[in-house]
Amino acid sequence: MPVITEIEDLKRIYKRRVPKMFYDYAETGSWTEQTFRENSSDFDKLRLRQRIAVDMTGRNTATKMVGQDVSMPVALAPVGLTGMQHADGEILAAKAAEKFGVPFTLSTMSICSIEDVAENTEKPFWFQVYTLKDDDFMRRLVDRAKAANCSALVITVDLQIMGQRHKDLKNGLSAPPKLTLRSMANLATKVPWGLEMLQTKRRFFGNIVGHAKGVSDPASLSSWTAEAFDHSLDWERIKFLRSLWDGPVILKGILDVEDAKMAANVGADAIVVSNHGGRQLDGALSSIRMLSSIVEAVGDKIEVHLDSGIRSGQDVLKAIAMGAKGTYIGRAFVYGLGAMGEKGVTKALETIHKELDTTMALCGRRDVHDLDRSNLLIPKGFEGDWVE
Ligand SMILES: Cc1cc2nc3c(=O)[nH]c(=O)nc-3n(C[C@H](O)[C@H](O)[C@H](O)COP(=O)(O)O)c2cc1C
Repeated sequence: MPVITEIEDLKRIYKRRVPKMFYDYAETGSWTEQTFRENSSDFDKLRLRQRIAVDMTGRNTATKMVGQDVSMPVALAPVGLTGMQHADGEILAAKAAEKFGVPFTLSTMSICSIEDVAENTEKPFWFQVYTLKDDDFMRRLVDRAKAANCSALVITVDLQIMGQRHKDLKNGLSAPPKLTLRSMANLATKVPWGLEMLQTKRRFFGNIVGHAKGVSDPASLSSWTAEAFDHSLDWERIKFLRSLWDGPVILKGILDVEDAKMAANVGADAIVVSNHGGRQLDGALSSIRMLSSIVEAVGDKIEVHLDSGIRSGQDVLKAIAMGAKGTYIGRAFVYGLGAMGEKGVTKALETIHKELDTTMALCGRRDVHDLDRSNLLIPKGFEGDWVE
């Protein structure tokens, strides 16, 4: 067992273990990947204020996200095809999350279905929907999430149209992988991954195949995906989608103050400041840069969360100190999952928790609720000095 001390260690093992097609799928942003890179590098520009001689006993990282108890302000973000990173990946990640006391968010584009994850876990998880054209399918999807006792609905609002990721096109990304000479040559070097995958029946898009009209076999899925997303989405439609769910609703993918103000008016409980991990509009600013102005504009009306670029507990602390009430990790948990299944996701969560807790102590804070901008050194112009 290698010594794992940071998320980067899990990423190295993940890269060796998982087929290139799925590693590339996660470790990619759209077009030039500028936003993908800056999501993380902008965290590094924020520095921490060291404080001493403050009693650091009895520290607390527990808080609430949309009214639900969490052991730290970190949820697992919805990640499509998680079940291709490791056999039964969504179930394993959900198990790790529930044991750790943080929310797991199941993607519409998951391999394990809503029902499958519910049957194999004990606590409620969150469900993410894309904004799709087909009302009937949307309603059924939401009803299935209700029946599975999901405790929050995450509506992703930044994917009406898909950002282009060069590697996915070049690799011919598909689930399960299509067998070409190139993919077979790579799969031959990933034997443990392949053997585990052969032992599970969960290899297709579990929420869609057999549920969406005209998609009874996986071959027709790519055309369904291209056609299914609602290009005409507007705020009225978002209001309607919100009305389908009685419990907490989280709007994911807000990166602009004006959009945040609109979101605060449609009856959502939280927004996620997010650029989809740099996978949509390349050239957009990083989430952490946009956070302060959004918190300032709507933080007193709606809970503000953040994702994109978090790779450590220090990043979590910086987001919370800048005003977020919760954060999400996408790739950071995928690295753990691909590296070593449920144990790897637990390792990722433990690593982030330890970094958050120790950093909090060294910043002279005992409680995650006490973190604020005074714990940070924010460079001048960090939020941008753009021509109006
Ligand atoms: C491989 C991958 C697949 C994703 N699939 C989805 C998805 O199905 N639905 C969604 O709302 N967001 C999806 N996202 C975006 C994540 O929910 C989240 O916003 C992003 O990963 C955060 O950035 P991070 O990976 O740097 O933490 C995906 C991200 C990745 C990396």
